[in-house]
Amino acid sequence: MSAPVSLISRLNEHDGQEVTIRGWLYNLRESGKLLFPQFRDGSGIVQGVVPKNAVTPEVFEAVKGLTQESSVIVTGKVKAEKRAPGGYEMDVTNVEVVQKVPEDSPYPITPKEHGTDFLMEHRHLWIRSQRQAAILRVRSQIEKAMHEFFDSRDFWRTDPPILTPAACEGTSTLFPVDYFDEEAFLTQSGQLYIEATAMALGKVYSFGPTFRAEKSKTRRHLTEFWMVEPEVAYAELDDIMKLAEDFISHIVKRVLEHRRKDLETIGRDISKLEKIEAPFPRITYDEAVAMLKEGHAKGELENDFAWGGDLGSPDETYISSRFDRPVMIHRYPVEVKAFYMEPDPQNPKVALCVDVLAPEGYGEVIGGSQRMGSYDKLLARVHEHNLPEEAFKWYLDLRKFGGVPHAGFGMGLERAVAWICGLEHVRETIPFPRMLHKMYP
Ligand code: 4AD
Ligand code: MG
Repeated sequence: MSAPVSLISRLNEHDGQEVTIRGWLYNLRESGKLLFPQFRDGSGIVQGVVPKNAVTPEVFEAVKGLTQESSVIVTGKVKAEKRAPGGYEMDVTNVEVVQKVPEDSPYPITPKEHGTDFLMEHRHLWIRSQRQAAILRVRSQIEKAMHEFFDSRDFWRTDPPILTPAACEGTSTLFPVDYFDEEAFLTQSGQLYIEATAMALGKVYSFGPTFRAEKSKTRRHLTEFWMVEPEVAYAELDDIMKLAEDFISHIVKRVLEHRRKDLETIGRDISKLEKIEAPFPRITYDEAVAMLKEGHAKGELENDFAWGGDLGSPDETYISSRFDRPVMIHRYPVEVKAFYMEPDPQNPKVALCVDVLAPEGYGEVIGGSQRMGSYDKLLARVHEHNLPEEAFKWYLDLRKFGGVPHAGFGMGLERAVAWICGLEHVRETIPFPRMLHKMYP
């Protein structure tokens, strides 16, 4: 009878038993007549033990000659070992080499330090390394937590189109595509479409790729990124601020529950994440401006911020550094925000909107707002922003046929991953990043 196949992450269920794992050689250490191969299978890493006198000469020679990243099917007995990375080791009894990496063209990424350029050019292989794989598992866990959160709150997932005839976020640039000799664009956000599905289904969310063509080279910018967007009928700004803090808290909680080891592999300071619990501090844009002015007066900020501008990255970092949780800044000036936002009835110079800034200088992770309710005001906005009225007719219809107050937000998945994993650059948060003038690969 052949041994059962197990994931490395589930070896604890097979203590003392013989199992088969299917993966790749991560590393090989030799110590006299003992070989210590490390195998990985995507779920974890395990160290094998191969004593010369305990295995057949064929098995010993096969392991001895194994090159890094050769694919192998390994059978062996699982034993608890406190000092081992996953708490278990394998006494190897058999090894089947599926494909051996040739010695004369070895795997290009060795455990030694490589420069970032080299690693980015080898992104398709780099993702096999422990830290990168851990980041991708955290990303997957965040996605699971997102769906779980919205599902438990009776949201319907609806899928907006990616090819669109017009702009949505006036503040960012579009990628044009040729659509049967007509100009179309890759979507910047599914929002306008899910406003329509929210009027059909009440509480909805979307999750999909979105695109921004501005020539930005910052650590936070991708040209293609994944956005999760809830949109809620009969909700106002306060409702989605509450939703946003519950959403983020839930995601962080789930990552701490299920991916603690990965966070350790990444080197994340976990104590910082343990503080993330709703409610989050809320400040108005006006209060944020006062804080920035004070920061400048104290010599902690170079720029003297003037009311009316959008927050730059140093401004966001300064404000977020004053809190140990994400901070919600609400009611920005209408001028710096998108055309579809409802002005504050108490002060129409500001919009009923919110940006959520992650702690530790990670900047904006969520942007959201209450949507313009009035047909006439929205039409005026379309004109003011020089948007083609014809392309927005359907969107205006939503205010004509049973319009209701509604609100929603968008969270960039990669920004959330960068913050939760504590990464320096957003390029490590997605398997194959698309950046200014560059696709990897
Ligand atoms: O603030 P943004 O532009 O908001 C919207 O698109 C709204 N329509 C969302 C909504 O209300 N449904 O983008 C939302 C989030 C940002 O907070 C940020 O996390 C992320 O998307 N984001 C980016 N992430 C990576 N690279 C970029 N270039 C990003 N631009 C925005
Ligand atoms: Mg924004």
